[in-house]
Amino acid sequence: MAKKLFNIAWEEFSALPLVEKTPYLMQPDGSPYHTLFAQQFDSVLLDKLAALANEIRAIAKTRIGAEYLRQQVTHKRAMLYFSQPSSRTFLSFVSAGQILGVPVGEVRDTSISSEFKGESREDSVRTFSSYFDLIIMRTPEKGLAEHMAWVISNSDRPIPIINAGSGKDQHPTQALLDIYTLLRSFDRGGGLHDKTVVFCGDLLRGRTVRSLSYLLTNYPRIRQIFVAPDPLQIDTDVLDILREKGVEFVQTDNFRSVIPEADAVYMTRMQDEWDNYKNESAAIDTSHFKFGLEELALLPPRAIIMHPLPRRDEIAVAIDDDPRAMYWRQMRNGMWIRTALIAMTFGCERRIHDYYCHNN
Ligand code: CP
Repeated sequence: MAKKLFNIAWEEFSALPLVEKTPYLMQPDGSPYHTLFAQQFDSVLLDKLAALANEIRAIAKTRIGAEYLRQQVTHKRAMLYFSQPSSRTFLSFVSAGQILGVPVGEVRDTSISSEFKGESREDSVRTFSSYFDLIIMRTPEKGLAEHMAWVISNSDRPIPIINAGSGKDQHPTQALLDIYTLLRSFDRGGGLHDKTVVFCGDLLRGRTVRSLSYLLTNYPRIRQIFVAPDPLQIDTDVLDILREKGVEFVQTDNFRSVIPEADAVYMTRMQDEWDNYKNESAAIDTSHFKFGLEELALLPPRAIIMHPLPRRDEIAVAIDDDPRAMYWRQMRNGMWIRTALIAMTFGCERRIHDYYCHNN
C-alpha cells in the first residue's frame, strides 16, 4: 500500500504540478490509494475501473452474487464527511459501501459535529481516521481533500481519502462515472475516440466539467466544444491543458449551431451557489443554453445527452423518455463505478474478477 505522501513536506507537495503528485497517491500496482483529482487516472486505469464496474454489476444481478460481493470488504469502515449538499454522490457512495459490505458513518452537518465547538478540520479528519478506514469528503474549499490526504498520511493512522467534490475545482468521481457512461454508450460505436463532446451551461463554476474535460484528454481525438454565455465560459487553465495536450477545442455561445456535430451533449445547471453577490447569476441571460424539443430535433440519432444532475430547467422533462437521454442511467452508473473504486482502493479487484470469470 502506498503511503508515500508522508515522505514530502506539505509546501513541497502542494506546489508540484498535478501530474507529479500522482505517484504519491497511487498503490504499487497502479491502483488509486487517495483519489483526489481527475488527472491521476489514465486510460489504462479508467478501462480497468470500467471493466471492474461491469463485472460487479453483472455479479450483483443474482442473490448469491450480491451476497458474495457483500463479503468482500466487511473488515473496513468508511466515513462520509460532506460539508456541502449532495444527493447522488452521497447516496451512491453509501450504496457502493453496502454492495461491498462496508459499514458507513457520516457527518453532513458540521453545526452538530465538534467543528461547531471550534475543532479544526485537521483534528476532525484525524478523529474520523480513529474510527474509520476510508474518508470520502465533499467540501466547498478547493484543495482541502488534498491537504487532508497529506495530514492523514502523516498521522499514526494513515487511511485513504476520496474527493467527492472540492470547491469549484474538482469532482473526480463524477468524471469517472461520466467516462464510464461514455465508454458504455460508445462501446458498440467503435469506442471512445474520434468523438465530439459538447459542454453547455455554467462551465466556469462547474467542477464536473473541469474534471471530465481533463479525463477526456486520455482518449484519442476527442474534440471538446464549450458552449456558455461569456461570463460563464470555461476557465483558461482548462484550455491551457487542452492546448498542451494538442486537444482540439471550440468556444461558442451558439448552442444550436453545434448540436448537429455532437456525439455527446453534457448539460450543466447554473452554479449560483458560488455567486459573490446577490443576483449575480440571475443577471446572465441563459435562455439560449437549454435543451428542449427543438434542440432534440437537431441531435444526431446516435448521440447521447448527459447531465451530472441535479437539473433545474436546462433540460426539459419532455425529453426524458428519448432513448438518447442518458442522465438517469449516468447517475446509476455512479454507484457501480464508485463500488469499483472502493474495491480497487481496498485491493479486492482480483477476487471479484476471479468470481466473475468462474460464474459468468
Ligand atoms: N452530480 C452530483 O454531484 O450530484 P450531487 O450534488 O447530488 O451529489
